[in-house]
Amino acid sequence: MSGPFILRAEGLSASYTSRAHGIFGKKTIKPVLDSINLEIRKGEIFGLVGPSGCGKTTLGRCILGLINYEGNILIDGTAQGRPSPGRRGFIPRGAGHAARRERALKVQAVFQDPAASLNPVKRIGWIMEEPLVIHRRGAKGERIKRVDEMLELVGLDPSYKTRRVNELSSGQKQRVCIGRALMLKPKLIIADEAVSALDVSVGAQILNLFRELHETLGMALLFISHNIDAVYYLCDRIAVMDQGRIVKTGTAGEIYAGYGPDAGVSASADDAGLR
Ligand SMILES: Nc1ncnc2c1ncn2[C@@H]1O[C@H](COP(=O)(O)OP(=O)(O)O)[C@@H](O)[C@H]1O
Ligand SMILES: [Mg+2]
Repeated sequence: MSGPFILRAEGLSASYTSRAHGIFGKKTIKPVLDSINLEIRKGEIFGLVGPSGCGKTTLGRCILGLINYEGNILIDGTAQGRPSPGRRGFIPRGAGHAARRERALKVQAVFQDPAASLNPVKRIGWIMEEPLVIHRRGAKGERIKRVDEMLELVGLDPSYKTRRVNELSSGQKQRVCIGRALMLKPKLIIADEAVSALDVSVGAQILNLFRELHETLGMALLFISHNIDAVYYLCDRIAVMDQGRIVKTGTAGEIYAGYGPDAGVSASADDAGLR
């Protein structure tokens, strides 16, 4: 039994190390996450909100296994191995490589800048198919069929397969990123400021797309944003983060009602284009 939670983080701490003035410079350690505990239920839309620089992206990167941390992360009931600190935080090949592939089947991410996430020289069909190719899923014909189905799910005509990235609008690019993230049927999607770089109306459409996809596919979503309105619109439960700690967790209604201007979070409804 893997339990009711898709994600559990226990006592999660992380820091960045930097060296001033070349290799002989003094090492400085900057703590970013301080004993974070977080539980996300299967199929839940969970919001993480907090001011810029409080550590939201760092938390997402820990969950994805991209940087080193202290504490435990359980995904679908399975404790995740930590990346090797010896190699600048990245998971090495060999056993660690297999662990990373395993993790990728369960958790996928969508980031702020869709253009930066997509290879500009490839066609959309190739980009969407790639996760299936890497993980050796299905024969060519089946893979193409899955790509067509996914394009429709994210609101793009299957004919977009033959287009290149730069022929698409930012909203369409983000739809491709979301579709690509869903190709391996992950149980958790981490969306880190996924609508923050988009125009207000386009961002609102992408929020609605997340809702529709959640209804159809039932995956859990960790929606990270500095914008409380976007988080409130989309999420069932919300955690508020400040200076590397989770300061409050509750239902969307509870958190939104208690939101004051001091929270340091953009509370402008215009930002999300939802009213
Ligand atoms: N690669 C890095 N090296 C050093 N410091 C970093 C790095 N990435 C982020 N930081 C610092 O860590 C803190 C948290 O950053 P981040 O997790 O990106 O916050 P958020 O996503 O909430 O805006 C910030 O003070 C930021 O400057
Ligand atoms: Mg961030």
